Amino acid sequence: MLILQDVTKSYPQGARMVHALRGVSLCIREGEFVAIMGPSGSGKSTLLHLLGALDVPTTGSISLGGCELKTLSERRRSLLRRRRIGFVFQSFNLLPTLTAAENVALPLLLAGEGPSRDRAVSSLRRMGLAERADHFPEQLSGGEMQRVAIARALVADPELILCDEPTGNLDSANAKEILRLLRSLPDGRRTVVMVTHDPLAAAHGDRTIYLRDGQLDAAGGRHAVAVSHA
Ligand SMILES: Nc1ncnc2c1ncn2[C@@H]1O[C@H](COP(=O)(O)OP(=O)(O)OP(=O)(O)O)[C@@H](O)[C@H]1O
Ligand SMILES: [Mg+2]
Repeated sequence: MLILQDVTKSYPQGARMVHALRGVSLCIREGEFVAIMGPSGSGKSTLLHLLGALDVPTTGSISLGGCELKTLSERRRSLLRRRRIGFVFQSFNLLPTLTAAENVALPLLLAGEGPSRDRAVSSLRRMGLAERADHFPEQLSGGEMQRVAIARALVADPELILCDEPTGNLDSANAKEILRLLRSLPDGRRTVVMVTHDPLAAAHGDRTIYLRDGQLDAAGGRHAVAVSHA
């Protein structure tokens, strides 16, 4: 469902350019759960942003479900994001003045869809949080906040869920629960891509892609194994 061909991304930094991605080609099938690992600064978040159509490559092409992203106007890209992609971040990114149900309903409101409370509560129920629907984020634990964020990512029934360090702010018990929930999402149609620093988290995926200095690193897995046995 996702095909990247020779994707580069460079950012101007003063008079110089930072080359965050340097020729990445890969293919992610429908229904896969793919982990992305790599050292800090290797381009993981940049890659996730491009997969999520939040930004466009400097060169190269990305196609999502047969749709070439660079041919879309900014407006069409933003529509595609709302309808087809859900995002989960390390810091949960819930709005503090909205209840759990209102946070979850937000993507539906933004997409101009009708009454959304029922869909929000049913998405929360799937995360085991129906009884927290009217709580505010500050009344929830970190693990619960992340489950609300996953419910929000799922509410519009997107085909692609992108997660950047979803367990980075959680203790190991909560992290395990979040990984179990993420693992339950890919269903033949829905694909999940997760950036993580944690080899144990990555092990929940069907496979792991390693980045190093903005390029795929075929030996990455062996480095990780060497480290974990050290
Ligand atoms: N908006 C931006 N403007 C300028 N440089 C950027 C921007 N975003 C990322 N970079 C640079 O691109 C490189 C890759 O950054 P990226 O955030 O993708 O790394 P990462 O692998 O996610 O790192 P981390 O594990 O620390 O989150 C870094 O050198 C970073 O400083
Ligand atoms: Mg990052």
